[in-house]
Amino acid sequence: MDDTEDTLLTQAGADIAAAADVVQLEALRVALLGRKGRITERLKALGGLAPEERRSAGQRINQLKVEVTQRLETRRTELATQGLNARLLRERIDTTLPARGQPVGGLHPITRTIQRIESIFRILGFESVQGPEIEDDWHNFQALNIPESHPAREMQDTFYLLNGAQLLRTHTSPVQIRTMQERKPPIRIICPGRVYRVDFDRTHSPMFHQVEGLYVAENVSLAELKYDIQQFLSMFFERDIKALFRPSYFPFVEPGADVHIRWNDPTKGERWLEVLGCGIVHPNVLKAVGIDSERYTGYAFGMGVERLAMLRYGVDDLRLFFDNDLRFLEQFA
Ligand code: PHE
Repeated sequence: MDDTEDTLLTQAGADIAAAADVVQLEALRVALLGRKGRITERLKALGGLAPEERRSAGQRINQLKVEVTQRLETRRTELATQGLNARLLRERIDTTLPARGQPVGGLHPITRTIQRIESIFRILGFESVQGPEIEDDWHNFQALNIPESHPAREMQDTFYLLNGAQLLRTHTSPVQIRTMQERKPPIRIICPGRVYRVDFDRTHSPMFHQVEGLYVAENVSLAELKYDIQQFLSMFFERDIKALFRPSYFPFVEPGADVHIRWNDPTKGERWLEVLGCGIVHPNVLKAVGIDSERYTGYAFGMGVERLAMLRYGVDDLRLFFDNDLRFLEQFA
């Protein structure tokens, strides 16, 4: 290389090293090696040289071209690495920081209890059926052998809708009525859901949940009812439950009974505790839904979900379930 090539290389080298980004670098490449670039112009000018000079000049300029191309490439790689490093620095994450955490919700204890009751009854062959919460007098009372002015209506102080024709169901028995109207025996169902009564204290809430059960087929007996209830209670409380069936009155069953279990209350000690009502479906109920009461018999039972949840979880105030206080609810998540 002679002086001019040397000078050109020194200049170009300095410019290339000083290029701050790929845009500047590309402008340099065009200025040197582009169609009208300084090195390209030189190559073009070779034609005007004397033949003996042309050969060595050609070699020098080609060498210059190779050198410059190499430096451009080197600088391009450098810039790319610098860019990547800068980006890595900018986007750095500290993997040793503690995670922020995802709050995880849980099912409400009443929902869990209903699901638990449903899964136990599924094992015992019961299908779960739902029905409307707004009912009429016929489905909620009359079809269940509770005629108008029957004293039993006072057992269930009722919320009536302003139109007077409808009411909030006081139990889920109307779902049993609707199911018996739609299907033929054998029928083996439970009806979980919200029910409403004018009541509010430590063990009562104007809205609460029930699971009622119904089995209608040929030759359904009290013995079967007792067996199934005993099975359910033992599975629910996860111990061998001895249930006491004490005669009781419900208009829609005959005979009817309250079921009591032995319960060790932390303050009141060991005693009998009522957990559900049951009985053999009254023939009038079967007649109301058009089922032949000579051929078919049935049993029915009903239980309060909050009451069972209180016993299972040791909760002494039913209202806690509906206060939506997370400190209470989180214990069940
Ligand atoms: N329907 C009754 C109630 O809500 C519960 C029950 C159902 C009792 C079936 C006996 C038989 O009080």
